[in-house]
Amino acid sequence: MALKRREMLSLWIFLQLTIADVMPSDEWAVKYKSNDACVLEGSTVDFSCSYNYPRGLLINTLKWFKPRRRQKQDGSQQGVFVYHTDSKQIEESYRGRTEFENEDKKCTLRLHNVSVSDIGRYFFRFETTSYGEMWTGMGGIFLQLAVLPLSIRVDSSRKKDYIEEGERVTLTCGTNTCTPTNVPFSWFKDDRQLDEVTGSSLILLSVSPEDYGNYSCELAHDARISAQRLLLDVRYRPKNVSVALSPPGIIKKGNSLTLTCESQANPAAGNFIWFTINGTVTSQIGSGRSFTVFINNEDGGQYFCEARNALGSINSTVKTLQEVSPDAAGDIYENVEFSHCSETEESTDVLLYAQLKLPSESERLCSLEAEASTSVIYSLPKADYSHRSPLQEVRVLTDQQGASCSHQAPR
Ligand SMILES: *[C@@H]1O[C@H](CO)[C@@H](O)[C@H](O)[C@H]1NC(C)=O
Ligand SMILES: *[C@@H]1O[C@H](CO)[C@@H](O)[C@H](O)[C@H]1NC(C)=O
Ligand SMILES: *[C@@H]1O[C@H](CO)[C@@H](O)[C@H](O)[C@H]1NC(C)=O
Ligand SMILES: *[C@@H]1O[C@H](CO)[C@@H](O)[C@H](O)[C@H]1NC(C)=O
Ligand SMILES: *[C@@H]1O[C@H](CO)[C@@H](O)[C@H](O)[C@H]1NC(C)=O
Repeated sequence: MALKRREMLSLWIFLQLTIADVMPSDEWAVKYKSNDACVLEGSTVDFSCSYNYPRGLLINTLKWFKPRRRQKQDGSQQGVFVYHTDSKQIEESYRGRTEFENEDKKCTLRLHNVSVSDIGRYFFRFETTSYGEMWTGMGGIFLQLAVLPLSIRVDSSRKKDYIEEGERVTLTCGTNTCTPTNVPFSWFKDDRQLDEVTGSSLILLSVSPEDYGNYSCELAHDARISAQRLLLDVRYRPKNVSVALSPPGIIKKGNSLTLTCESQANPAAGNFIWFTINGTVTSQIGSGRSFTVFINNEDGGQYFCEARNALGSINSTVKTLQEVSPDAAGDIYENVEFSHCSETEESTDVLLYAQLKLPSESERLCSLEAEASTSVIYSLPKADYSHRSPLQEVRVLTDQQGASCSHQAPR
């Protein structure tokens, strides 16, 4: 969007330059600022124009004309006069609707209350008092009428029937016939206005999942003229893939745990593969969004999943399940309660300050870092609560759910 403003700026400078270095003094010339115009019915259009001729000649006639439909459209046949130095020559339907700027070799024509019968090509021509010395600006200006309703057109860098992350996407607010050139627009995403965009197009240089949403546009000066909302359905391969555990609780030998492969994707991930790591060996152990493991080994295990959709696949981070051996870990307290916990905002980690209710000691405070939105299973070794060792020695595996979270300054 910032780029868009720069593009407009450089275009403007370019136009200024081309108009400024137009006219070496003795040249025959008619210059139109643009060869196209598109306006809404009932509005006003300017045909910006300047001209030049050799010194010493005298002008006697200036005119804007529009060839009739069946005439040649190359400026060789004059058709009807939209403007004429001799006002009696002006076509009835254009009388009182035009303003002509004739000073300093400008020939800009302003046409009011444009209607469907005005569609066509317009030419400026001037004639001098010298026989045969006259000039028509070739090419002319084609006036098109923007016929409502407004709608949003999507152009993307890859020609596919959907929008994919990373593409350059241009949304253009226009009508079926053309995009009005002379009016500012307002743009909205999910009903919030995008203040930085005021032109007829909105450029997303590299579209991202955050750009997913409903877009609409309207005339800045007339909110009644608006386009229907358009859903920009940005597709992307799975992101933020992680393994979630259920049920929360203590991991014990003989228990079974369900691992679920969580991800954000559009379309949603539909294929999952489960892997386990044993030393240096990674092996595939299953498929499906959820996978059940039995804790039958004191070393626990390491697991991760691959989530796939039509656009690609991504592996999750590795989840380590640490089975707690009662002998090694001491007593396991199944009814550990949190009195409070707090989350640090800058990372996805949650710093828990947990007040544990223990059977034989009233209460104690400890803290540990845990991954957000995953279950953390605590167990507390016997040795620990007797000598209040630092947290690292506390192997507490429990679930953060059920803890009521409130913020507390870190110790
Ligand atoms: C504009 O033109 C239409 C016909 O095309 C006419 O009915 C209407 O009165 C005109 N409006 C103004 C403000 O002149
Ligand atoms: C987009 O609009 C549709 C239809 O109005 C609605 O169902 C959907 O929730 C909207 N999506 C967003 C991201 O707002
Ligand atoms: C992935 O997670 C990050 C951090 O929580 C979040 O900002 C981002 O929106 C997520 N991505 C998707 C596609 O939801
Ligand atoms: C890991 O590999 C070792 C040696 O190959 C084997 O003894 C052990 O059973 C394996 N563990 C699991 C959980 O498969
Ligand atoms: C995920 O890991 C497996 C096993 O290491 C590997 O074969 C696969 O290519 C990985 N997938 C992706 C998308 O990196």
